Amino acid sequence: MGVYVVTGAASGMGKASADKLRAEGHEVIGVDLRDVEVIGDLSTNQGRSNAVAEVLEKAQGNLDGAVFAAGIGPVPNFDVFPKIAEVNYLGVVELLEGLHGAFAANGGAKIVVIGSNSTSATPLVFKRTLKAFEDRNIEKVVKSVKFFKERGSNFIYAASKISVAYWVRENGVKKEWAGAGINMNILSPGAILTPLLERQLASPEEAKAIKSFPVPAGGFGKPEHIAEWVYAMLSPMADFMLGTNVFVDGGSDAYLRTRDWPKAVPLSRTKEIIGKMKPLDY
Ligand code: NAI
Repeated sequence: MGVYVVTGAASGMGKASADKLRAEGHEVIGVDLRDVEVIGDLSTNQGRSNAVAEVLEKAQGNLDGAVFAAGIGPVPNFDVFPKIAEVNYLGVVELLEGLHGAFAANGGAKIVVIGSNSTSATPLVFKRTLKAFEDRNIEKVVKSVKFFKERGSNFIYAASKISVAYWVRENGVKKEWAGAGINMNILSPGAILTPLLERQLASPEEAKAIKSFPVPAGGFGKPEHIAEWVYAMLSPMADFMLGTNVFVDGGSDAYLRTRDWPKAVPLSRTKEIIGKMKPLDY
């Protein structure tokens, strides 16, 4: 049986994933603000590095995989803006980097990062916000959405999830990760009825926006269903799955962005793609 780290394990999809793993006989090292094995605040540098150290100690340097589900929704409150960026982006990439050795030691670790379908549904996410995430400059991330006032949280949120998906796809295929037998993928949910969504539904303005969002399958998803997907993506079923972004969103992405992907290679990128068509040395 394996040892898995699950961030956000105290609530919602992280909790459902941790419950599923435990029910299947695995050991879970939960990371969250409360009620878990490693209590830590992923919105601070210190909290993230302490969490890495504690997880490594508890796992004795060997992890079979991870679920990154800790996250903060698009709360329209200026004080929360930097925290959304820190938890949703740095709380994933810094932990992945810090735990890399433990994943590599295992030789077949699998990682699921929870993204969001807001990535492909939110208009007006600026390039400068994405660049600031890439540069890990949280102050700049917050400044970049100043124009939108309180609603800037939506753009920080969507940009944090786009950036984390880029990071996973960019690094997941490299020798350091793929070559070490690590399979890293993204699961992008639509609206899932968790405490995070319940808090949003409690605000009439946010509830209106959520309820007017088109969902071809109808209704909200359940955290337990997401946990089943997560579990499959941690299992041998995912041995040949790498760098994929799986949408479990009732069809919203297919409805809104029908022909955006798959996308034929544009003429301008032909040389680049052909240049990459060679065997990898890992
Ligand atoms: P939730 O609020 O039920 O659970 C999130 C967990 O993250 C909580 O236990 C919370 O304590 C933890 N967390 C927040 N800030 C933290 C911090 N500073 N340090 C450590 N832990 C912290 O939320 P839910 O819905 O289960 O969300 C899980 C993930 O799914 C999040 O990344 C969220 O952005 C994403 N998501 C959620 C959707 C939804 O409709 N519920 C839709 C798409 C994505």
